[in-house]
Amino acid sequence: MKIETDIVIIGSGIAALQAARVLSARFTIHLITKSDIRNGSSYKAQGGIAAVSSQDDHTTFHLKDTLDAGEHHHVSEHVKHLVEQGKETIQDLINHNFPVDRNEHGDISLGLEGAHSKARIIHSGGDATGKALVDYLIDTLPKNVKIHEYELAYELLMNNSGECMGVKTKNNDKDFIYHASYVILATGGAGALYACTSNCPDSVGDGIALAYLAGAQIADMEFVQFHPSLLYINGAAKGLVSEAVRGAGGYFINENGHRLMEGKHPLGDLAPRHVTAYEMYKERAKGIEVYLDISMISDFKSKFPTITQICEENGIALSKGRIPIAPGSHFLMGGVVADRYGRTSIPRLLAVGEVACTGVHGANRLASNSLLEGITFGKLMSENLLENGKKQRNFIESPPLKRDGKLTLLQAQILQNEMLQKAGIIRNSVGLAKILKLLPNYNQVRSFDFSRCTKKQIELAFMHITSSLVVSASLMREESRGAHIRKDFPSKCPSWQNKWIVFEKGKMNVRDGLYEQDQASNNVKAFF
Ligand code: SIN
Repeated sequence: MKIETDIVIIGSGIAALQAARVLSARFTIHLITKSDIRNGSSYKAQGGIAAVSSQDDHTTFHLKDTLDAGEHHHVSEHVKHLVEQGKETIQDLINHNFPVDRNEHGDISLGLEGAHSKARIIHSGGDATGKALVDYLIDTLPKNVKIHEYELAYELLMNNSGECMGVKTKNNDKDFIYHASYVILATGGAGALYACTSNCPDSVGDGIALAYLAGAQIADMEFVQFHPSLLYINGAAKGLVSEAVRGAGGYFINENGHRLMEGKHPLGDLAPRHVTAYEMYKERAKGIEVYLDISMISDFKSKFPTITQICEENGIALSKGRIPIAPGSHFLMGGVVADRYGRTSIPRLLAVGEVACTGVHGANRLASNSLLEGITFGKLMSENLLENGKKQRNFIESPPLKRDGKLTLLQAQILQNEMLQKAGIIRNSVGLAKILKLLPNYNQVRSFDFSRCTKKQIELAFMHITSSLVVSASLMREESRGAHIRKDFPSKCPSWQNKWIVFEKGKMNVRDGLYEQDQASNNVKAFF
């Protein structure tokens, strides 16, 4: 079945919904999501939205905190846009009745999270900000946004001028071809490449695999953030225990009650995530269980209803004052190279939110900057398209590829365990090289015919593609920086400062900037 439209958005998290909301003022949009629209990692997000809103705070502080947490591996101009425009964007949502938590005086209640120098985290519904924001945005969508659930995008369509002109998808029964003026990737991250994750099982990096197969540039894949506190019971992660719990006074202890972050970092329990996650990892590697001590937090249940529910569902008695935890994969700083208007290296293909790599998160994202990124860059990208978007007129497809290749794939669980052990919170060249041998290369995936596969088989192949990028970049960067920790190269190396590992069409390059010199100008030419 063929559908013609202005814009296709792939994904249904905060960035996708914010884009749909803004773009619907002028365009017809088809929003395609491979699951239920309320089933993404955005919906589960417990942390809030980091944005300056109090008198004693300033965007320069927020900027500094972001750069420090990410170890200065940023495109700082984009971070500036994020914190400055982010402040306006959240205010705009509040002015349009997005409900935020307030104190008894009616002021916005501001929480503290790791590596923030000020309390600036805005919440909605306590620890259910993602749910509140997704519900709010869905409710604002008009009729010209058509939603397709349980439909998987499996191939981006390119025209004979090298522009993206649409996408092929499939649901349980049928295949679809969408022709569109713009395709927006907003598919989220890839936490579920790992056996222990805070993400929903769907977050396997489909958007990155799709873009890579189409020839787009992908960067920063070695930077996978592990969150220090996932609820951990009988060897399995059961959900997130938000950093806001430590912002409210909670702290890390081991099974003997010893505090784990004392003397380890000036910010103690609120150190950046790569620091706290690594400390929890090391303690657990000695065979010692770790916990969050919450005994000092009054009214825990009313402050953290979502965490309370997850704990109760899993038989944890909060009255004991401690929650069993372990670190798990949480956020991918890398992704499809995009600028602040979502423009990728392929004209008319845009990327926004966690799937994109805009250089705002550096080597380790600052807490609660991800929902901020989704609403802010979702809006910036969409406003730019509203103003400057042009209709696609060339739907002549590029010559078809020969697709007679075969793929040998691991079972999903085996791949996730391998990734956790060999490309997880700590890596070394031996383990990375071993896992790389199990993963397909670019030519193999390019010559494979996905159209004949089931959705599950396609997802599995995409997991392999995205994993191969994480592993290759991790092997290449011979240093430790932010969330990328190499046992065999335990320090930061000055020669890796401001170097980006960029993949394109099967090649891996190390370059001095996230963007090629002429990338933006090429896109401007192609767009307008
Ligand atoms: C958290 O609530 O700890 C996670 C929030 C985030 O990822 O920024």
